[in-house]
Amino acid sequence: MKTPTLETDRLTLRPVSIDDAPAIQKHFNNWNIIKHLSMVVPWPYPDDGAEAFLRDVSLPEMAAGKAHTWGVLIKGEPDEIVGLVEYTEGKASGGNRGFWLAEEFWGNGYMSEAITGVQDFLFFKLGIESMIVVNAKTNARSRRVKEKTGARFIGDGTLEHRSGENEVEKWEVTRESWAKFRNKGIQP
Ligand SMILES: CC(C)(COP(=O)(O)OP(=O)(O)OC[C@H]1O[C@@H](n2cnc3c(N)ncnc32)[C@H](O)[C@@H]1OP(=O)(O)O)[C@@H](O)C(=O)NCCC(=O)NCCS
Repeated sequence: MKTPTLETDRLTLRPVSIDDAPAIQKHFNNWNIIKHLSMVVPWPYPDDGAEAFLRDVSLPEMAAGKAHTWGVLIKGEPDEIVGLVEYTEGKASGGNRGFWLAEEFWGNGYMSEAITGVQDFLFFKLGIESMIVVNAKTNARSRRVKEKTGARFIGDGTLEHRSGENEVEKWEVTRESWAKFRNKGIQP
C-alpha cells in the first residue's frame, strides 16, 4: 500500500520526499537525538546524511512497498518536517519502528500523538498483526512513548547504540492490544 498522509489533532504525517532532506539534516544532526539510536546512524553526521538516507534507504524501501516513512509536521508551525516515524516490514517480528523529533519540540506529547496515528494506520488499514519495538534502557522518553501507545514490555535484549549503551527493552504491540487500548474494537 502506498504511504498515505495521516492527520491527527495537532500533526500532519506526510510521506517523506527528497525535498525533505534539508529539514531532516537541520533537525536530526543533534547528538541528543542520535546518541539514542543504533549504530546504523553515522556520527558525526555527514553533511549529506539526510539526503543519502532518503535517496539510498528510505525512498527505495518505500517504492518497493517494504517501508513507510512519514515526516512529522506540526500544524501552525512552518511547513517543514521536524521529525520522522519509520515502519519497516519484518517477517519474523512483524516489523520494526523508529522515531525521532526535533529537540525543541520534546515533551508536548507530539510523538505519542504521531504514533497513535501511525498505529491506527498500520493495524487497522494496512492490517499488520504485531510489531516489536525497542529502546535503550536509559531512554526514558522513548519508553514513556511506548507506555502511552499501548506497548507491552516483553523483555530485555541487546543492541549497540551510538551512546555506547547495549541494553535494550523490547516491547510488543498487537492489533488486538491496540484495538483494546483505543477502545474501538478491531477495525475491518
Ligand atoms: C523519544 C522522543 C521521540 C519523544 O518525543 P516527545 O514528543 O517528547 O514524546 P511525548 O511528549 O509524546 O512523550 C514523552 C514522555 O516522556 C516524558 N519525559 C520527558 N523527560 C523525561 C525524563 N527525563 N524521564 C522520563 N520521562 C520523561 C514526558 O513527560 C512525556 O511523558 P508524559 O506525557 O506522560 O508526561 C524524543 O525525545 C526524541 O526524539 N528523542 C531522541 C530520539 C529517540 O530517542 N528516538 C527513539 C529511539 S528508541
